[in-house]
Amino acid sequence: MSFFIFLLFGVFLNTVVSENSKRLLIHKNVTELEETLYLTVLVPPDVYISSSAQTENEDEYQSIECTTFNSKPAANISWVVSGLIVDSITQTTNEHLNGTFTQRSVYRFPTYLHEGKDITCMVDHPTFTEVKTMMIQVPSYTVPNMTVQIYTTNENETEYKTIECTAAKGKPAAKIAWVLPENKSGEINYGITADNGTETVTSTYRFPAHLHEGQNITCVIEHPKLAIKEVKTVSLPAYCKY
Ligand SMILES: *[C@@H]1O[C@H](CO)[C@@H](O)[C@H](O)[C@H]1NC(C)=O
Ligand SMILES: *[C@@H]1O[C@H](CO)[C@@H](O)[C@H](O)[C@H]1NC(C)=O
Ligand SMILES: *[C@@H]1O[C@H](CO)[C@@H](O)[C@H](O)[C@H]1NC(C)=O
Ligand SMILES: *[C@@H]1O[C@H](CO)[C@@H](O)[C@H](O)[C@H]1NC(C)=O
Ligand SMILES: *[C@@H]1O[C@H](CO)[C@@H](O)[C@H](O)[C@H]1NC(C)=O
Ligand SMILES: *[C@@H]1O[C@H](CO)[C@@H](O)[C@H](O)[C@H]1NC(C)=O
Ligand SMILES: *[C@@H]1O[C@H](CO)[C@@H](O)[C@H](O)[C@H]1NC(C)=O
Ligand SMILES: *[C@@H]1O[C@H](CO)[C@@H](O)[C@H](O)[C@H]1NC(C)=O
Repeated sequence: MSFFIFLLFGVFLNTVVSENSKRLLIHKNVTELEETLYLTVLVPPDVYISSSAQTENEDEYQSIECTTFNSKPAANISWVVSGLIVDSITQTTNEHLNGTFTQRSVYRFPTYLHEGKDITCMVDHPTFTEVKTMMIQVPSYTVPNMTVQIYTTNENETEYKTIECTAAKGKPAAKIAWVLPENKSGEINYGITADNGTETVTSTYRFPAHLHEGQNITCVIEHPKLAIKEVKTVSLPAYCKY
């Protein structure tokens, strides 16, 4: 802390001799007293870290926010992910009337980019003896257990087949799509159930058995934890009995 005091102290002593009255007037002017105080005050910040998730274009994003409240001077916030310093952050600084600063630094990214990793926010300030580090863990993803099953049913003397494509206990929910022959006329259904923070996605394609004889029916499972889409193909026999 630097502390400077400049004291200007002016005393003017005026002596006036009046020849007429032979009175002696001593006038003392002490108005020029000036005191200037330069004071540098350091205020340490209150430091917080928090995270929130948003969904945008079907992708999940994380916003990790590191905030330093009411410090003087403004604190220095930086980010470290997997040992590397991150630059792409938005930072806002607010100056309060009392001269302190509040800073918000937000690091936003698609969850899959750092899923399961620790994000570190580092705060430095002249009042700190060492840099303060705060950590938050990005939720981790789980690859779903992917299976395909075929059921055969008889309804009104017509044989139907149902292909069931399941992506079980994934985090986040997997996306299932079908690649069907051109003359598709069956029905597609989707179902999703949540279980302990994971999602099980099931999609079925039901069709009269004779419709796709000798054809391939493919279900495609997409998940952020899978580098390539999982493709499951069912080859239907050329002749089925009915
Ligand atoms: C005292 O000093 C100030 C500044 O020099 C001056 O403006 C003021 O007139 C003085 N007052 C008297 C009573 O002499
Ligand atoms: C803030 O910290 C970073 C990394 O430690 C450093 O490069 C930068 O010079 C600092 N900025 C200020 C204004 O202290
Ligand atoms: C400065 O002002 C802010 C906002 O009004 C307040 O929250 C904070 O406590 C003040 N800090 C000091 C040191 O007065
Ligand atoms: C995946 O699902 C199959 C069939 O439901 C089951 O037998 C298997 O144990 C599951 N695997 C895992 C890793 O959960
Ligand atoms: C079977 O046929 C009857 C009469 O055509 C119809 O009402 C019924 O919905 C059909 N059932 C199925 C499962 O298609
Ligand atoms: C719920 O999930 C957590 C981890 O994600 C696991 O440790 C726990 O055993 C699960 N509980 C149940 C009932 O499956
Ligand atoms: C569907 O198309 C395939 C060839 O693209 C054909 O062999 C099959 O007979 C067709 N099925 C029906 C029900 O039209
Ligand atoms: C079905 O897929 C198999 C390989 O999985 C391929 O050999 C075959 O030609 C495919 N049949 C049709 C009708 O596309």
